[in-house]
Amino acid sequence: MIILSFPNLGFSQNLFLIIIAASAALAGVAAACSDGQCRLLDECSSNQDCEAGLYCFSCPPGFPGSRCVRSTVTNQFKLLNNSLPFNKYAFLTTHNAYAIDGYPSHTRVPRITFTNQEDSIMDQLNNGVRGLMLDTYDFRGDVWLCHSFKGHCHDYTAFGPAIDTLKEVEAFLSAHPAEIVTIILEDYVRAPNGLTRVFTDAGLMKYWFPVTNMPENGQDWPLVNDMVQNNHRLLVFTSIQSKEASEGIAYQWNYMVENRCKKYKQS
Ligand SMILES: *[C@@H]1O[C@H](CO)[C@@H](O)[C@H](O)[C@H]1NC(C)=O
Repeated sequence: MIILSFPNLGFSQNLFLIIIAASAALAGVAAACSDGQCRLLDECSSNQDCEAGLYCFSCPPGFPGSRCVRSTVTNQFKLLNNSLPFNKYAFLTTHNAYAIDGYPSHTRVPRITFTNQEDSIMDQLNNGVRGLMLDTYDFRGDVWLCHSFKGHCHDYTAFGPAIDTLKEVEAFLSAHPAEIVTIILEDYVRAPNGLTRVFTDAGLMKYWFPVTNMPENGQDWPLVNDMVQNNHRLLVFTSIQSKEASEGIAYQWNYMVENRCKKYKQS
């Protein structure tokens, strides 16, 4: 699994994998339960079996059968208040947030690629996700979200135009004026100002956290409260270093660290 963090902060990218890892150790001790009595990682046969905040899910790589897993996260600003620096909180982040089961083909070609999420972007946000990892490509004269290789999007690996997803983020930020969303781009867009255009068209520039306000060298971020007051509620990071100077989009590795693990290495 991958953990991304702002300096001083565990930025858990895939909490769900942690839950799966924990469940492997518990296999075999599940007790029979039903009617909303089943607790985290108990065996279940329907969503109704599970306690509030859980649902019944099967995940063959993680555990046999079906078990109750979390459907929502605890709001960190209710656990505490929002008066601390942004980097003192942890936020659930979805990897390949756009690669959603059943996402309709937008190219008229059936998609041949894997998916990573069951929830729509709006459901992810409503369920507590506050970080979205998206892969952006030049495609059909626009910016698209795509699973691909060698930086080229194909009809059979494309999910959809980025603007559709970004408009969902705009709708969420507009409806939740105290929430902050982070977008982390694996960015293959080479069109000059391509990203700037699509974020502008999605109505997101009014929430943009300016790169000049981002702390470097492990210093604290602004207070969440102040970010909310200033409407600096959208943080965007790109994997293309030159865009920080050319478009004012933060270069991810100037502000984030990633732990080392077997499968993924810090770039
Ligand atoms: C927020 O929580 C911190 C830590 O518990 C506390 O010191 C502070 O007074 C609280 N601020 C407000 C405005 O409630």
